[in-house]
Amino acid sequence: MRDRYAATRTLHAWATDGTPVALGERLPRFRPSPARGEMAESRTFRMAGAQSPAGCRGADIRRAQEVGSSERCTVSRPRQSARELFSPADSRVGQAGSRWADSHDRLTVEERSWVEGVESWGGRFPVNGIINLLDRFPTHNLGESTSQDLVFGELLDVIGMDAVRDLRLGYGSALGSAPLRDRIADISAVPADHVVTTQGVGLALFLLAFEQCRADDEVVITTPCFPPSRDALTGAGVTVIPVPLNFDDGYRLDVDKIAQRLGPRTRLVSLASPQNPSGVRILDSEVEELLRAMERKAPDALLLVDEIYRDATYGDEPTPPSFAALDPRIITTGSISKAYGAPGLRVGWMTVADPVLRARLTVAKMNIVLSSSVLDEALAERILAHREQILAPRCTLLDEALKVLAGWQAQHQHLLDWVRPDGGAMCCLRLRSDHFDDSSVARFWERLPENDIQLGAGPWFGESPSVFRLGFGYLPLPDFHAALKRLADTLHDVRD
Ligand SMILES: Cc1ncc(COP(=O)(O)O)c(C=O)c1O
Repeated sequence: MRDRYAATRTLHAWATDGTPVALGERLPRFRPSPARGEMAESRTFRMAGAQSPAGCRGADIRRAQEVGSSERCTVSRPRQSARELFSPADSRVGQAGSRWADSHDRLTVEERSWVEGVESWGGRFPVNGIINLLDRFPTHNLGESTSQDLVFGELLDVIGMDAVRDLRLGYGSALGSAPLRDRIADISAVPADHVVTTQGVGLALFLLAFEQCRADDEVVITTPCFPPSRDALTGAGVTVIPVPLNFDDGYRLDVDKIAQRLGPRTRLVSLASPQNPSGVRILDSEVEELLRAMERKAPDALLLVDEIYRDATYGDEPTPPSFAALDPRIITTGSISKAYGAPGLRVGWMTVADPVLRARLTVAKMNIVLSSSVLDEALAERILAHREQILAPRCTLLDEALKVLAGWQAQHQHLLDWVRPDGGAMCCLRLRSDHFDDSSVARFWERLPENDIQLGAGPWFGESPSVFRLGFGYLPLPDFHAALKRLADTLHDVRD
């Protein structure tokens, strides 16, 4: 996994006296080092002992250059051995490798831009800094969008070992396990034969992009959004038409604005409810109005509603009904990754009313992964069978943490605005422009890794760098308090 993203490029740097320094080459075994917003490739650099100038100290290296590159990036250098590393990231959006900050000297290096370097990336899918979340584990982790991790032992205590002891580890079915599909059908209020399981919603997004759409087709998607919701489409060669929703309007769906972008080539309209990163839910009336507009202007289009955060409610609020049964043009997606805290099981699903499209998606899935993991699916089925028990403590924590966050925001409202979420474990906050100009916004992003804080950067989702996503469902409450305190200190340090 990590090696997949490791860099193969060489970075050259100059010490202040002009002495060239070869900073790096690909180092396997280490973390990928993304990335700026949309542009940069993940890279891992090392300062190899033999290549480092004798006695070179962090502050000595002022400049680095890589053909086709010029973003700012921070490099960590081990004190003793020249083993490794590193890292990111654009000063506006990136998050440097804070994990190693204690044990490494830190060097700041300038590279030439990767913005123009997109052509040298050569990947089908744009690189997005959100990949950082998979590989960095800062103490003050406010970047996560999931509820607290479900621990395997905790799950076994609930379901018992007998639930899986006799499981046969052969291939699963292409559609997905029948008992799991029954459970999903039950919580989505559709027949079981509408359900196809996937390896997370991630795979569902990919399958839809490649199977529902063709190269010249158009997909209308609201932003800010989860990056792969858009990038899977880009990877499929589809024309992506983003419709930006506004922070100042509380990220409410603007149906008129979407309708203006619909046309005969639209094959899909892509939404999420609650949305990532804002946690704002879409109303039934908004979906109904949108369907009417689609009927008039985009008769061949389907509507995707990604419901991955549907179960992440606050306290004992009931889970809102799925959109799956509302109209046969609606495809929904869901998974056990967020509210249930089990993204490591890689189980998700789609509900698809059209039997022909469903068959095509199943064949596409079979061609890519054959089937899902039978063990993952068996565990997912048990998780859904015990859903109240697994959700209850997580939804309680979401409720408590949201109250803490609301109080914290009120206390810092002169510095930050926010959009209060309706559901999900995350929401958006914005640095106020009267206290944060461009350079203090840049300083803010630079300072986060130094302070061991992780947030979701606005540009990952198609938003401005003044906006960030804050996850409030992952850390235990005392740690959440500590993280907010550290974040407040950072805001005070960098404000104008
Ligand atoms: C809106 C949205 N959709 C899909 C996913 C992918 O989730 P998974 O593949 O783990 O089910 C995420 C994960 O962050 C998400 O936020």
